[in-house]
Amino acid sequence: MEIDLSPATIAAQLATRWLGRPCNVEPVVDSTNTALADQARRGGTHGTVLVADSQTRGRGRHAHSWHSPAGLNLYFSLLLRPGWSPRANPPISLAAGIALAEVAAVHLPDPPHLKWPNDLLYRERKLAGILVEGALQDDGFDYVIVGIGLNVNQLDFPASLSATAGSLRQMSGQELPRAELLASLLNRLEKWLDTLNQGDPRPVLTAWLRFAPWIGTPIRVKMGAKEIAGTALGLTDEGALRIRDASGGECVVHTGEVLDI
Ligand code: BTN
Repeated sequence: MEIDLSPATIAAQLATRWLGRPCNVEPVVDSTNTALADQARRGGTHGTVLVADSQTRGRGRHAHSWHSPAGLNLYFSLLLRPGWSPRANPPISLAAGIALAEVAAVHLPDPPHLKWPNDLLYRERKLAGILVEGALQDDGFDYVIVGIGLNVNQLDFPASLSATAGSLRQMSGQELPRAELLASLLNRLEKWLDTLNQGDPRPVLTAWLRFAPWIGTPIRVKMGAKEIAGTALGLTDEGALRIRDASGGECVVHTGEVLDI
């Protein structure tokens, strides 16, 4: 593992109260989401972060895999034990998206975009993705795992990704230190998760929309076998996507994939 993911460098930059305490760094795991869920079932505590230099079975949304070579990028997961009822359904992935966009923006010539629900895009390339998974117990969450993959220094992508993926280094022309970047992300993530925890999702929704200039423009969304075309209107308080469809009616998409924006 390269020196720039050392726990000491991460700790030196970490300014959080609870997130990343502890922050464990592994050279290789199958998936940080899977490994951290195992830790959660064995009693892992709220705020634990697991970072891996590489993953052998990195997972994305919709059963996609997440390309996770060593020495280049960030792959990490947060273990949360929120007090929320699942019915409250707060937009955790949007909070994580804001943190990613804010930190990426520092290194990019123009602001990046967030594509609903949680892709970080720059000049139509995907730089990062978020995979939120949870386990329920009784009337609440036993745990929630927020997994984040951010392409940092990768210059060459496999042919299957070369037309759609990108990295901060490709876009900024600079190699970036992963440990400092990770600590900045955790610092911003804690801020937005604390904001969410205050019970009002609106500050999170407003901040997210600042990175979504495509709201108000035509959009196509795939929901299973169904596809809707219309105009993106905004978000509900739970972070679902509101669309004005061709008949003029409003529909709300809770799970789906935006095809083009
Ligand atoms: C997506 O855009 O489809 C979500 C990608 C999430 C990838 C990250 S990498 C760290 C964590 N561990 C995983 O297996 N997946 C997430």
